[in-house]
Amino acid sequence: MTELFPVPTEFAKQALIDEKTYQEWYDRSVNDPDGFWGEHGKRLDWIKPYSKVKDVSYSGDVSIKWFADGTLNVAANCLDRHLATRGDQTAIIWEGDDPNDSKHVTYRELHEQVCRLSNAMVDLGIKKGDRVTIYLPMIVEAAVAMLACARVGAIHSIVFGGFSPDALAGRIQDCDSSLVITADEGLRGGRKVPLKANVDKALETCWSVKNVIVVKRTGGNIHMVTGRDHWYEDLSAKAAPTHTAEEMNAEDPLFILYTSGSTGKPKGVLHTTGGYLCYAAMTHQYVFDYHDGDVYWCTADVGWVTGHSYIVYGPLANGAITLMFEGIPTYPDASRFWQVVDKHKVNIFYTAPTAIRSLMREGEEIVKKTSRSSLRLLGSVGEPINPEAWLWYHRVVGDNRCPIVDTWWQTETGGILITPLPGATALKPGSATRPFFGVKPLMVDAEGKVLEGAVEGNLCLAEPGWPGQMRTIYGDHERFGQTYFSTYPGLYFTGDGARRDTDGYYWITGRVDDVINVSGHRMGTAEVESALVAHPKVAEAAVVGYPHEIKGQGIYAYVTLIQGEEPTEELRKELVGWVRKEIGPIASPDLIQWSPGLPKTRSGKIMRRILRKIAENEFGALGDTSTLADPTVVEDLIENRMNRG
Ligand code: WTA
Repeated sequence: MTELFPVPTEFAKQALIDEKTYQEWYDRSVNDPDGFWGEHGKRLDWIKPYSKVKDVSYSGDVSIKWFADGTLNVAANCLDRHLATRGDQTAIIWEGDDPNDSKHVTYRELHEQVCRLSNAMVDLGIKKGDRVTIYLPMIVEAAVAMLACARVGAIHSIVFGGFSPDALAGRIQDCDSSLVITADEGLRGGRKVPLKANVDKALETCWSVKNVIVVKRTGGNIHMVTGRDHWYEDLSAKAAPTHTAEEMNAEDPLFILYTSGSTGKPKGVLHTTGGYLCYAAMTHQYVFDYHDGDVYWCTADVGWVTGHSYIVYGPLANGAITLMFEGIPTYPDASRFWQVVDKHKVNIFYTAPTAIRSLMREGEEIVKKTSRSSLRLLGSVGEPINPEAWLWYHRVVGDNRCPIVDTWWQTETGGILITPLPGATALKPGSATRPFFGVKPLMVDAEGKVLEGAVEGNLCLAEPGWPGQMRTIYGDHERFGQTYFSTYPGLYFTGDGARRDTDGYYWITGRVDDVINVSGHRMGTAEVESALVAHPKVAEAAVVGYPHEIKGQGIYAYVTLIQGEEPTEELRKELVGWVRKEIGPIASPDLIQWSPGLPKTRSGKIMRRILRKIAENEFGALGDTSTLADPTVVEDLIENRMNRG
């Protein structure tokens, strides 16, 4: 039996949403979406109020619009409207990589920085609809850059600072950015990341970029190209400190964020203005039970969707105090998270299971020597949290006092979809529990039949939907329909598998497609494969995920070399380095198996199911192998398998 953790009495006393409210609101959100969201859309400041609310069709030519005739500006909602009531309140607490380096930035200060950069961008010719690529470390200027784009109506595309010059170039080319905002160098765990040098390399193949703005972070020695490259500090100092925010339609694009799928290149997930902000703000308030003055810390990077919605947009739209951390959990030592919690009196802490698992390894002592008495609520995101890690997080980090919200969602969904509400939901370790308002999960079998009751199946979402959902793949609406709405016509297919129990709680079991989740980062197996086959000595490669104690999933690559090439330890290392260079460190294969051949059907299709089983060390249950063109290939792969754990 799974242990049930009821809402703690102390927590319930102050919680924003109790069980009765959850039920009432949920029912209304799915039965009367226009009425429900029409009311909650008012949490934003509109320039021109909307008269229409929901205009959504998951069938045919998929079309998703919310609040479509309203106008607003996201930056004005995150900054200007707070100035009268909380201008001198902290908006961002910035905690540097170095524990002696931190600062508070008020809403007024942030507003001024954003206005200055907005004016500077306009001077460089940036206008509504232009694309701006942001390649920055976790510094306040990352939030400033996002909000300045939103303010002038430019569409930002943030590329995680850990991506390689090639990966950066691909993302700049896909959306034809005309401006890149970067820093001289990043700083993580005491090590420097050569961001500007990476940009220089990427721009050798990007013709659309006219200007580069460079934030001085480390003062490291970099090359500035005259006429193209500008120091952020110079532009800001010269620019005026006020700026009138651009009036945007609710459905104007806010940002593009590239994410991995089953096939092909990463997709540019497009989110728009009104619905996205309403949903990010509302989920931030209710899932984290955010009260005025709470110090809230999400440890994600702004390069991922979690950083977009739950470090910057959701919290700032709510006038919250959001903590931004430049460093890593293990620097200078493995108690850094808890030291920062004590230093800034953090009340709400939101991180990924992989971080919890790696800190668990270090023992309880280093957690227990910190106070953590400010903590009220804990959160988890990015991958399934195993009950053992959940229980440790609850007992050791939260001293059995803090509820845990295990939040399931995706880059595509813009905000949290399945989650406990901490004042309403009794918790089960490892379950993301129940749907947020507007979200209608369905369990579907392989044939598309909707399954009722307690079952396991593919997780789909039905209309009415929620306003924060992605609207399209940038530049490829057909691929959008194809990717998400064609597997089960009329439904959004998440790519995840899930189980629903007798209480109607959902347990996410992980991806059922060719996406792997490494330390909470999404990786397409096809991307790693194409990086591997780009190496001159590689003839063929197949990549699958396998269970990894800390990372959740590890990357397992089967590699066939060109005739005559020797499979050496040195070449193995070279290939790992090659993938790091092609994509970035997060894509490094954990295991590479030399494979004289890959298991294929007679028509030449790689049988991934078999490769997955062998990588999982479960080769006893390979299933039907009768369609294999050459069964001896499999014997060799089993014989020489790399994971024997
Ligand atoms: C997985 C991150 C289980 C899932 C917000 C999803 C989770 C993918 C959870 C999206 C969770 C995210 N429990 N699995 N609480 N949260 N996932 O786009 O497989 O980086 O499809 O968005 O992460 O990853 P993405």
